[in-house]
Amino acid sequence: MRIRPFELERWQSVWEHHVDLNISESGVLPMAAATLADSPSELDRILAQPLGYPQTNGSVELRDKVAATYSGATAANVLVTCGGAEANFLCVWSRIEPGDEVVVMEPNYGQVAGLAESFGATVKPWRLREELRWQGDPAELAELVTAKTTMIAVCNPNNPTGAVMSREAMDAVVAHASRVGAWILADEIYMGAERDGELTPSFWGRYDRVLCTNSLSKAYGLPGLRTGWVVAPEKIAEELWGYHDYTTIGPSVINERLASLAMAAEKRTEILERTRRIVRGNYQPVAEWIRRHNFRHIPPAAGAIAWFAVPESDALARRAREEKSVLLCPGEQFGMPGYLRLGFGGHTGELLQALSRVEEILSEE
Ligand SMILES: Cc1ncc(COP(=O)(O)O)c(C=O)c1O
Repeated sequence: MRIRPFELERWQSVWEHHVDLNISESGVLPMAAATLADSPSELDRILAQPLGYPQTNGSVELRDKVAATYSGATAANVLVTCGGAEANFLCVWSRIEPGDEVVVMEPNYGQVAGLAESFGATVKPWRLREELRWQGDPAELAELVTAKTTMIAVCNPNNPTGAVMSREAMDAVVAHASRVGAWILADEIYMGAERDGELTPSFWGRYDRVLCTNSLSKAYGLPGLRTGWVVAPEKIAEELWGYHDYTTIGPSVINERLASLAMAAEKRTEILERTRRIVRGNYQPVAEWIRRHNFRHIPPAAGAIAWFAVPESDALARRAREEKSVLLCPGEQFGMPGYLRLGFGGHTGELLQALSRVEEILSEE
């Protein structure tokens, strides 16, 4: 099977370890495993366990903790996966047949659209509109969803705009999915990384054909644990487990235990508070920098990413990389030349350094 190359991931994999300052990442500064354990002996116990296979769909303990964060869900609704990437993969692989139509929110992390197209579906973009503060227009969604639509895929909060869907937009997605019996695939990986305001509401519980994916990689600052999940109707969670038998079989036993520490109620609250502190604190100098350069920008509601309009974005990102060893994500990676995505979840000092290096280029122009 031919696949559509996943440009963004490839581009990031090629460059992220070859620059001094990486401000292309969308998550927050990763935490160390030791900070998840309450005591050194707790960590020792995890490291002392035999490296066997764990429960392949995730231990009941971890699935219980994940389920507790979704109203009305139980462990039977949860499948633990290798990151949000595997969670999305299993959902698309299991639901999509050649000839289906899949409506995908755009701009977006390119995985779902690329996979759906690779599996033979026709992908129809539902565009987020800058004039609507990066909301999708419900009237456009109404036209896009037809009897052939089998999935509507959203990323909420959105990567790269940082917008959180309005109640009206969420209701429209549910209404149009239910009109044709389509699945909603809601990638909610940035939930919990809101700068202000409430936790982003989940699609879970709004309709019976909902698949919610998430992981510890972004809002939790634990991408190296490679732990994610799908929350699905019980029968589908069971079915997805069968697809998972063909991919990674199960999580790593060490990561599974560490993930379970991270998802314990008190620790989880602590982690998400840390994330909010980082995104609030680091966004200030970024917003100031964007303002100083008069770039058009709508502040992100969530996530450690700022998305703003820049003329010649690709050339600027290339110069930043080649001349200043700073990695910035050009809008081309999201099919939107003329924009840049700047990740501000890292070390504050490094972020400030990166901004001043890019400023050196801008002041030459
Ligand atoms: C929206 C979105 N979904 C999924 C992923 C993949 O995440 P993970 O590292 O959990 O596999 C990413 C990574 O950038 C993402 O931005």
